[in-house]
Amino acid sequence: MTATPVSLCANNAYVIESNSNSEVALLGGTPAFTEDLCVGRPNVPDRSAFMARMNAMFDSGRLTNLGPMVQEFEKQVARIAGTRHCVATCNATVGLELAISALGMKGDVIVPSFTFIATVHALWRQGITPIFCDIDPVTHCLDIASVEAAMTSRTTGILGVHLWGNMSATNELHDLAQRKGVKLLFDAAHAFACGTKQRAVGSFGDAEVFSFHATKFVHAFEGGAIVTDDGDLADRLRLMTNFGFADEDEVLHLGTNGKMSEPSAAMGLTSLEAMDSIIAHNKRNYAAYDVALKAVPGVRLQYRSMEDPHNYHYVVTEIDESVTGLSRDELVAALRLENVIARRYFYPGCHRMEPYSSLFPQARHTLPVTEEISRRVIILPTGQTVNEADIGRLVGRIAAIVRRAREVRQALAECEDRRIPSFTRRVEHPVNADAEA
Ligand SMILES: Cc1ncc(COP(=O)(O)O)c(C=O)c1O
Repeated sequence: MTATPVSLCANNAYVIESNSNSEVALLGGTPAFTEDLCVGRPNVPDRSAFMARMNAMFDSGRLTNLGPMVQEFEKQVARIAGTRHCVATCNATVGLELAISALGMKGDVIVPSFTFIATVHALWRQGITPIFCDIDPVTHCLDIASVEAAMTSRTTGILGVHLWGNMSATNELHDLAQRKGVKLLFDAAHAFACGTKQRAVGSFGDAEVFSFHATKFVHAFEGGAIVTDDGDLADRLRLMTNFGFADEDEVLHLGTNGKMSEPSAAMGLTSLEAMDSIIAHNKRNYAAYDVALKAVPGVRLQYRSMEDPHNYHYVVTEIDESVTGLSRDELVAALRLENVIARRYFYPGCHRMEPYSSLFPQARHTLPVTEEISRRVIILPTGQTVNEADIGRLVGRIAAIVRRAREVRQALAECEDRRIPSFTRRVEHPVNADAEA
């Protein structure tokens, strides 16, 4: 299969390497990048603004415990999410655990398997059985028919995930949850500042949880936030993030230490100030990938609306091996030698990770779309540290690797370079292997 070279764009911004240059590092060429081009490299906002906030914090003597910066951060997050309440947390994982508990979920809860493991751990750590449901092949979010079919009298809730910032089927899930009388929570770790023109992510379901981890486009080093329009729920969550304390020596509820600190909020506020420019940068990068990847057969970029709000933080591609002649894993491995750290998120799906793999060995037979998609997806680098010229060079290398697929496959089989991930050498998770079931 030959990859067509990408022609110049109108503004010459994302010229990719020409067809005559089929350099591939694995085949003896010069690596495309001298330094690693990574997925999830943190965006670094205005240092002086951050330092000024840190100085103000030391002057005030308030380092944590719902200080003024956390209060301001909560106000800003609630404004952007369009919700009445926001409770900031130390991270999204604890935020999810608290929201699950505060909503009274127990027994069985519906959840996608194609998500970061924290979504599922947050249930299981509280003695709740995750009922893995399949995903929609376009959005990679919960498939509504699969959810409906999985609901039983033991189901107390649905935990949807707005994966990659794509909105789950919020209306359908809302109707189903209402009809069945169960709670609806969204893991919106990826979806801050996403939504539709009419409504932002944050205000769907009973509550939603954002992540502000350092790898997110807006971050607080570590941080999370639970947003909701339900005042009683917000009050309960406020108690629960602070050990249950309602007053100096009055504990009203089971709780933990889930508080966000002032340095995190200082980073969060500084990061929020850069949010619009980060999104604009990510959007330009997405457009550059969109143009360049059109010329690479078998490598498809997941669609993003350019109209609805989106943070464009995840560049999600799907590899069709029958066209590229290379598997997703082989492409990821070949890119490592170009100093490109692309990622296989969220392979192989939570149902194939422990403890769930041992607990629910049959799950893999009920999740055909998850099984398929998790073998095809590559996340490519973006963010402030990646520009359109990088994308041109990177996609040029992908095109060259695909063009020379047969040689690349052979070279990978023989390559001893320690940068080649071990997973390219293992036969992983054969589909429907009887021995596994
Ligand atoms: C879908 C999803 N949920 C939850 C989390 C956990 O977020 P945190 O690292 O803030 O705990 C992540 C982290 O990346 C995530 O991707």
